Amino acid sequence: MSVPGLLVVGGGKMGGALLGGLIATGWASPSDLILVEPLPERRRELEAAFPGLHAVPAPEAGLLDAAGEHLAGAVLAVKPDTAESACRALGAMGVTRVLSIVAGMPAQRLEHALGGEPVVVRAMPNTAALVGAGVSAISGGSFATSQDLAWAEELLDSVGTVVRLPERLLDTVTGLSGSGPAYFFLVAEALIEAGVQMGLTRDVSRTLVVETMRGSAALLAETGRDPEALRAEVTSPAGTTAAGIRTLEARAVRSAFMEAVAAATERSRALHR
Ligand SMILES: NC(=O)c1ccc[n+]([C@@H]2O[C@H](COP(=O)([O-])OP(=O)(O)OC[C@H]3O[C@@H](n4cnc5c(N)ncnc54)[C@H](OP(=O)(O)O)[C@@H]3O)[C@@H](O)[C@H]2O)c1
Repeated sequence: MSVPGLLVVGGGKMGGALLGGLIATGWASPSDLILVEPLPERRRELEAAFPGLHAVPAPEAGLLDAAGEHLAGAVLAVKPDTAESACRALGAMGVTRVLSIVAGMPAQRLEHALGGEPVVVRAMPNTAALVGAGVSAISGGSFATSQDLAWAEELLDSVGTVVRLPERLLDTVTGLSGSGPAYFFLVAEALIEAGVQMGLTRDVSRTLVVETMRGSAALLAETGRDPEALRAEVTSPAGTTAAGIRTLEARAVRSAFMEAVAAATERSRALHR
């Protein structure tokens, strides 16, 4: 095994997506990475997907003897209930830099579990990371420098876009872009159903809705224009779109989204209180 650059702890959906992104973008070759994953089946699956990847069941002392100072750090991609025990094991191994994608787990608790003055960068990614189109917010813990944030940003760049924010705003990010794919999926479900109601086959309705979402997102991203301006352009006076929008406004859809994000943010806060 060559000298590893990164330990990935947790080979679930997110850990697997990150491994894939890092390898696909050339940030690392599989032999630069060590995966820690308790499930034998999942270890075999990921080792087969990324030939050269070394996967072990637990973060054990001795694992990093060969890595020494060349270890860039660890990515923590486990469920919240095992995050602190995983950090205690990492701290005992001598790991001093961790990028955590664990939802709702404050940097300070991870720092405490790691021991000493470890670097922790927290990130809130979303599920679109699975297809390399995620968006993540990152924030540095007490001992993170701008170099550490740059390292974390580079890692997460491999699965999408990254923004930097203070940690106190991560609950809002959770309620907006963390839960955001589910909001859009709900809108997609409703629109597909609406197309079927109005006489389209389900397949055709799905294609029309998915491509309309993709196209609208591309217009927003590529032109950089405000959504209001883009919407005004397709809303001619007394036209078809105006009739549709008026119905949505009458049902307070805008305010429903605002309340949804506020509720999700509050729920995220409550989970780590
Ligand atoms: N999925 C998302 O869209 C998303 C978005 C934002 C943040 N997150 C956060 O990302 C983290 C991972 O989520 P996920 O969706 O990837 O979950 P997941 O698919 O359940 O993956 C968690 C993985 O970590 C493994 N694991 C558990 N304890 C471990 C330990 N002590 N050492 C090493 N590996 C361990 C689990 O193995 P077992 O199966 O054996 O338990 C599993 O493979 C969570 O904290 C989640 O809140 C996820």
